[in-house]
Amino acid sequence: MHMRTSTTFFKALTLILPLLGPGSVFGKSTPPPVPCVIHAATAVEQKLIFTTFVEEFYVTRDIPRAFSHIAADYIQHNPVELDGVTSSFDFLDPIFSNTSVTVQILHRVFEAPYGWLHYRVDGLLDEPTAILDLFRFNGTRVQEHWDVIQERPVNAPNPHALF
Ligand SMILES: *[C@@H]1O[C@H](CO)[C@@H](O)[C@H](O)[C@H]1NC(C)=O
Ligand SMILES: *[C@@H]1O[C@H](CO)[C@@H](O)[C@H](O)[C@H]1NC(C)=O
Repeated sequence: MHMRTSTTFFKALTLILPLLGPGSVFGKSTPPPVPCVIHAATAVEQKLIFTTFVEEFYVTRDIPRAFSHIAADYIQHNPVELDGVTSSFDFLDPIFSNTSVTVQILHRVFEAPYGWLHYRVDGLLDEPTAILDLFRFNGTRVQEHWDVIQERPVNAPNPHALF
């Protein structure tokens, strides 16, 4: 039996992404992300920034605006993106700007300096995809990111839905 694995995700992106320059989605020209200065922030301030960041990134899907919260020396653990703002922006903007790709936030937690987000993505792969993003704040900025990406395998023994 064919088992879907996270490699499916990367294979799909490898096929999709060369077709799209970062500025090519819907013919709009996408401004580059703005590197930003880090200021000290309390846990309460970080939580407010996380709320704004989540709204911009996953709800209004304004990726250039969301990236204004990311540190210029962003540390990226996703294996197909590189450190710094530009690589992640060029990778994510075509995906999250595409209105055929839908995002449904399921859970979120902020406990300074970490913000977690668990969400469902439809329209990216054959099957709905579960993603967990973990961000670490440094003062006012998002400094570091990890993610875990899962599809439901064919013939999964567990009858519960993935979401
Ligand atoms: C948007 O996503 C849909 C569904 O995955 C895909 O068919 C389409 O080619 C994408 N459009 C652009 C402009 O990337
Ligand atoms: C926070 O950002 C400052 C300024 O870029 C940097 O020097 C420092 O190492 C960062 N601290 C952490 C814990 O990431």
